[in-house]
This record gives sequence, structure tokens and C-alpha cells, in this order.
Amino acid sequence: PRKQSLRTLRASYNKGEPITVLTAYDYPSALHADLAGVQCVLVGDSVGMVVLGHRTTQPVTIADMIHHTRAARRGVASALLVADLPFGSYERSPAQAVDTALQIIKETGADAVKLEGGVSRQKSIAAIADAGIAVFGHVGLMPQAVSNLGGFRAMGRTSKEAICVLDDARAVQDAGAFALVVECVPNRVADVVTKALDIPTIGIGSGNACSGQVLVYHDMLGILNHPHHAKVAPKFSKQFAGLASHIHEAILQYCSEVKQRDFPDKLHSPYRIPDEEFEQFL
Ligand code: KIV
Ligand code: NA
Repeated sequence: PRKQSLRTLRASYNKGEPITVLTAYDYPSALHADLAGVQCVLVGDSVGMVVLGHRTTQPVTIADMIHHTRAARRGVASALLVADLPFGSYERSPAQAVDTALQIIKETGADAVKLEGGVSRQKSIAAIADAGIAVFGHVGLMPQAVSNLGGFRAMGRTSKEAICVLDDARAVQDAGAFALVVECVPNRVADVVTKALDIPTIGIGSGNACSGQVLVYHDMLGILNHPHHAKVAPKFSKQFAGLASHIHEAILQYCSEVKQRDFPDKLHSPYRIPDEEFEQFL
């Protein structure tokens, strides 16, 4: 796949060609995304939910993000690599946001950082961009604000909320972000936001009018959709595969073959000792 940069993403946007974004959290998932030609790999703080087993993204730390982004970095050759700033690492002040963004970029080699918030984070986005770091915004549903929202829910379903989403999106653009995620807003609102901006909107749960799309790796592959542990992906996330049932079948088969002494068979017992060596050993 072609090496991606802010300029190649911009070229897709200018042609009206949808931009592909997928999350990844480690070497294999990043490699899979990169080899398939995904344009932008996002190490999301969704790592807290789909990899670390937390119920929200709030517990994710800077150390978690650095650990996972470093692993993803080793799997990405072509895509633009973006890392989320986790909850609590940038809200206090623009200076804190710059410190965290610099730390993550320097310690991981990510190409850009992403943070949630619009009007309320405009100064922080501008400060990070001024420090020389490419910034990805995130408006609409902002999962780090789950406590204030009272749960994960769609945003912009009233005119008042839709105006807030549009104001946030404009604030992110004016602050100097190169793109922004628009999460869980009605299609028609995402369409208006997309047309109002001149940077790409990357939709998730926000319909088909955005400048690109992002999904969570584990959700789109059905990795957590286990036959005996129904943890369903969000309803907007199409499952392009149902890996959990394949994984479950494979592990059942492994256990059964071990119990039966069918595994390992000859083919999977490759190491030989010559007869005379073996006789001396005995
Ligand atoms: O953390 C994440 O995976 C995200 C995407 C869903 C946009 O922020
Ligand atoms: Na995120």
C-alpha cells in the first residue's frame, strides 16, 4: 500500500474519495490494517474496553496508550498512525495537553494525536498544533464524557444538540485540526457538518455522508461476539466477520485433540535424534 500522510489524506478528501480509518492496538491488528491498505490506523482509547476489559474508556492511562501505540507502530508501514490522548491527560490546561501530546509522540513515533472535545478544547488543540503536532479532533458522542452524559448515547438528535455538534466541529477546524471524528450523530446532521467544514469528517455511527469512516477492529471482526458470552458490538458497527465463533471452535478442537492424544501428531513433532545418539543417551 501507498505511504500515507496528511497530504495523501487531503488528496482523497479533495477528490471526494472516502478515507478509510480502523483502530488497532497491537502488532498483529496494526499489521492487518496496514497490509489491507487502511489509510489511517487509530490507536483508540477504546483499547480500554475491547482489549483491557474496562466498561468505559475512563481508566485508560498515558502508559497504556504508549504501550499499545508502540506495538502498533511496529506493524504500520504505510498508514498514518494516530494515538488517542486518554481521559485525564489533557483537560486541565493547554499546557498539560501539549505535554501529553509531546510525550506520546516522542515515546511512540505516532504521526498524530487525537482528543475529544470541540469548543471546550479549542485552545488545547491550537496549542498542540502550534507545538508542531498534527491533531485529529473528535466531536458528537465523546465517550470520555460518559459520566456527564449518563451513558453512551447518540448526540445531535435535538436542534439544540445539533447546533452544539456543529459549533464543536467548527471550533476543532478553526483550532487547526487536520480531520475530526464525528461519532453517533444522525446522518443528516453529519451531512451538514461535513458540508460546513473544509477538513475531512470521519464518521462512526454517523451515516454515509462523512468524508471517511472509522470502526473499532474488535467490533467489525466480531472478536467479542462470543457464542457463550454475548458482548455485542454497537448497533452501527457492521460485523464484516464473526471471528469469535471461529476462535471458540478452534480452541474447543485443540482441547479435544490434546485430551485424545491426537495432537501433536507426527507432522507437528518435528525434532529428531539419530538412533546412535539416542542409544548412547539411554
Ligand atoms: O477510541 C476509539 O476507538 C475512537 C474511535 C471509535 C473513533 O475514538
Ligand atoms: Na477514542
